[in-house]
Amino acid sequence: MNKLTIKDVSWKGKKAIIRVDFNVPVDEKLRITDDTRIKASLPTLEYILKQSPSKVILMSHLGRPKGKFVESLRLTPVGVRLQEYLKEKVLILDDCVAPKIKEAIDKSKERVVLLENLRFYKEEEGNDPVFAQQLASLADIFVNDAFGTAHRAHASTEGITHYLPSAAGLLMEKEINYLDQAVNYPKRPFVVILGGAKVSDKILLIENLLNKADAIIIGGGMAYTFLKAQGKNVGNSICEKDKLDLARTILKKAQEKNVKMELSSDFAIAKGFDAVETKRISDEIPDGWEGLDIGPKTIERFKKVLSTAKTVIWNGPMGVFEKDAFAQGTKSIAQYLATLKDVTTIIGGGDSAAAVTKFGLDKAMTHISTGGGASLELLEGKELPGIKALTDKEKYKEIEKAGIR
Ligand code: 3PG
Repeated sequence: MNKLTIKDVSWKGKKAIIRVDFNVPVDEKLRITDDTRIKASLPTLEYILKQSPSKVILMSHLGRPKGKFVESLRLTPVGVRLQEYLKEKVLILDDCVAPKIKEAIDKSKERVVLLENLRFYKEEEGNDPVFAQQLASLADIFVNDAFGTAHRAHASTEGITHYLPSAAGLLMEKEINYLDQAVNYPKRPFVVILGGAKVSDKILLIENLLNKADAIIIGGGMAYTFLKAQGKNVGNSICEKDKLDLARTILKKAQEKNVKMELSSDFAIAKGFDAVETKRISDEIPDGWEGLDIGPKTIERFKKVLSTAKTVIWNGPMGVFEKDAFAQGTKSIAQYLATLKDVTTIIGGGDSAAAVTKFGLDKAMTHISTGGGASLELLEGKELPGIKALTDKEKYKEIEKAGIR
């Protein structure tokens, strides 16, 4: 990577302001239900803390409070959990840019400080330069370790880079390396598994992957649009009728590019999402019925394709895995990936990551991304604003030589 990383910086006596993605799920009692993202930030924090910085200031968003202070979206529970992992006290502040903040940080004994939810200010999402400058004024160097938010050009991800040298954290670096390597320099055969509800959410992804993958497996809700485009009956299954021509074009392009497309061909069907008692396995989806998972023959066929792979990227579940009755397809594919030896298995963030974690197979995969939208955009071949804005290594050397910030 030609971008500055935290390993290129000498941290002794410096103040770091680190954008992390602590946007974690929290239940109604404000208990964190999945702290993967907090744990994923620890390597960067521990690395910098070992280099004797004068302060490590953390900032994040939580949820979508739309520019208002929302009590249930305060970062306090995150700060408490972080303290447990770091085994040191964290100063948890109740604001992120108010004038009292700078003073509180300067006076504090704690080395680690957590600012309040950035999205309590509309200026964060508006990428307001004054707000970005206020954040920048708290430190000497900015670190972006919030891969999950790297696709957003916000004040704390993009704006702030105009005022401070800006380095990638270890999580950011790891995510970029795994995803970029897998998609641009894969060991072949390179097989992509796509699922999830809508084709329209994945058009750019499919177009990019058609130029890279050897085979694309399509299951989940989006398969029904492709099956309908091939003239098959999909009953009441989720289907984007306005995307049938697009689905045909994609299938044709795949043929031209010699990319094998594997679509689901048998299904777990039911008379509706909640009519679990009507569930049966079928090759057909009659009118009044809905496909809610891939069936056993499809699972075996998909496994056969995967058995040849050296690199696998998975984005989107094979069925409604949140319901046990329709989780078998997603679970079987995850279990099969977990058995593969010498194969790089990369799981995109969001639903696929949640599914693999739910089945307890997260440790068996090569890499599970912490970013849903961000990993999708990276796999689409887009440059993410939070990454693009980081300082180039060469430029930083010049800055250091000149002794200016
Ligand atoms: C995520 O959970 O995908 C990131 O934290 C970004 O959140 P956002 O979609 O609300 O910008």
